[in-house]
Amino acid sequence: MIRRLFFELKYLLGWTPWDTGISPPELMTFLENHEPGRALDIGCGTGTNLITMAQHGWQVTGVDFSSRAIRQAQRKAQLAGVQIQLIHDDVTTFNNIPGTYDLALDLGCFHSLSVGEQTRYASNVNHFINPGGTYLLYAWLSGGLYEFFSEGMKKSNRFPSQELITRLFAPHFELISIEHGIDHQRTSAWFTFRRRD
Ligand SMILES: C[S@@+](CC[C@H](N)C(=O)[O-])C[C@H]1O[C@@H](n2cnc3c(N)ncnc32)[C@H](O)[C@@H]1O
Repeated sequence: MIRRLFFELKYLLGWTPWDTGISPPELMTFLENHEPGRALDIGCGTGTNLITMAQHGWQVTGVDFSSRAIRQAQRKAQLAGVQIQLIHDDVTTFNNIPGTYDLALDLGCFHSLSVGEQTRYASNVNHFINPGGTYLLYAWLSGGLYEFFSEGMKKSNRFPSQELITRLFAPHFELISIEHGIDHQRTSAWFTFRRRD
């Protein structure tokens, strides 16, 4: 509840540094190398990546618990002239997700959850991804320069470790690749998982 209000406030104030309006190269590479299918954007925000995927021929559904973000996504999709489906739901329960998907994308949502919520999310997300389907996860990781310089050990506990992520998804997903990066002085990574058959 508090986290939802926190995100609503951020969208209200426009304090949304992640909302660049540009899809990341890792997603673009994926779209250029895969046939379109059905895609789910988990924590879709204002829909930048939904619109990009729709423009590449994907049938897209976005889920977010921020009503304001969903309204902005609706408006952006109308302006872009693409069809997107938007679901207001909490990804710690995934109560309202319709159907199954060939691709699920999480860009910056999973890492904002508590460890208990991440555990629940990881044990549920496989239900929405078809066998052989792809789960693309971009997350900030624990450790890194930001924590070192900001003495952010308390903060550091908020972000998952690579070990935690690989362990949580291992029961239902094969890990295909991890690409590390630095994002705002934080260690980050793109994980590509394949849903086991
Ligand atoms: C850092 S933003 C990223 C948004 C989008 N993926 C992007 O890259 O522009 C994280 C998003 O996850 C959403 N979110 C966080 N926790 C959530 C939860 N428990 N259920 C649904 N959405 C959540 C927030 O409202 C926010 O839109």
